Amino acid sequence: MITRLHIENFKSLEDFHLPSEPGATLAPLTVLVGLNGSGKSTLLQALDFIGQLVSGKVNAWLAAREWQPSDLQTAWKRNKQTILISVTWLDKDHGPIEWEARYNLQQEKCTYESVRLPEIGKKLMIFEGQVLKIANSNFELKTAISGATILFEGSVLSVLTLADVHPALASLKNGLLGLKSLELLSPHLMRKRAKSANDIGSGGEKLSAFLSSLNSDDLSGLSRQLRAFYPHLESLTVKSLKAGWKNLVLKEDYSPSSEFGASHVNDGLLRVVGILAQAYAKHSVVLFDEIENGVNQQIVGQLMDFLLELSSERQVLITTHSPLILNFLPDDKAREGVIFLYKNKRGATEAKRFFDLTRVTWKMDGLGPGEAFVDTDLTALSAELADKDGGEA
Ligand SMILES: Nc1ncnc2c1ncn2[C@@H]1O[C@H](COP(=O)(O)OP(=O)(O)OP(=O)(O)O)[C@@H](O)[C@H]1O
Ligand SMILES: [Mg+2]
Repeated sequence: MITRLHIENFKSLEDFHLPSEPGATLAPLTVLVGLNGSGKSTLLQALDFIGQLVSGKVNAWLAAREWQPSDLQTAWKRNKQTILISVTWLDKDHGPIEWEARYNLQQEKCTYESVRLPEIGKKLMIFEGQVLKIANSNFELKTAISGATILFEGSVLSVLTLADVHPALASLKNGLLGLKSLELLSPHLMRKRAKSANDIGSGGEKLSAFLSSLNSDDLSGLSRQLRAFYPHLESLTVKSLKAGWKNLVLKEDYSPSSEFGASHVNDGLLRVVGILAQAYAKHSVVLFDEIENGVNQQIVGQLMDFLLELSSERQVLITTHSPLILNFLPDDKAREGVIFLYKNKRGATEAKRFFDLTRVTWKMDGLGPGEAFVDTDLTALSAELADKDGGEA
């Protein structure tokens, strides 16, 4: 899992540390809160960008969003051509692994990268100019490529074959490839028919194909989980159409029972299916924007139980405006996982652990996390933190 992140010159993340507290690490379940425009979606986009660097598909990612590379720059730093990234990936066998990269916006690739194990001070990879050195399992750094132009977009990790590299380097690459952002999850896209997929797609557009790729036990497991949310659901199945297309079919058990095609399935159910499906996709880090969107308050508790369980197997980052979501977090998870984003005087995003703020922490004695959240004036808190220039409030 990602335990620390530092990013410079990515939209409002001018010089951004997560967590901001030195030495602190991210929890398995991170909940980002903050005012509109504070940078919650931007942070998910930055993490998604990191996944795309490692898969070497940055240009397609930009095109899908109709963005130019220059849109990624911090607005008031237009002359700075590099996005700096530092990610600490915690590997269960090797401990923390630190990847540093400088992405050049004109060349559309990283021009410098290094990977090291900070705990033992060893380098696993260094890439500078056209020289790539990677370590084998004995930590011997050897020149893998030199002189010739290496063709890649994003990170040189994208062209690294995992045989013969140090296993920690392989773990880092696999882990970051497993970043999955569902920040564009949309019921409209989830109703689409699809052909083949190994996940549901960034907006959910491949949901039907992904569900059809599940074995029957997993699909009935998913239907069972979904029934806990929607008791009238009889089954969610996938129908094969001509030329390999797949389409969702929903059955409800009202009497008489009825069957509906994808275009008539309700929005909330589709979003919940998209979220539950993540238990069956093998992503290492899953990101959901505004998790409460479209779901009614009766099922928020079940949704949070699911996310807490999901976070025991993989890292989960969500954004929310909903106090109800926070109220379903146990106090200890709320203290370690809820991060408040606000903008400093320059308009750059900053982060603080919400329940550690002096203005908030005492409220936890008598109130649940959601109640303490509602009881806090976020506008005043943001202004106060901005005044103190990242200081304590
Ligand atoms: N290139 C950029 N440089 C600096 N700041 C930017 C840049 N692009 C966007 N922003 C700022 O980031 C804000 C958008 O932030 P974002 O969408 O992450 O907010 P959010 O916390 O998700 O808000 P909401 O709760 O409304 O979804 C914009 O309103 C703008 O102020
Ligand atoms: Mg947003």
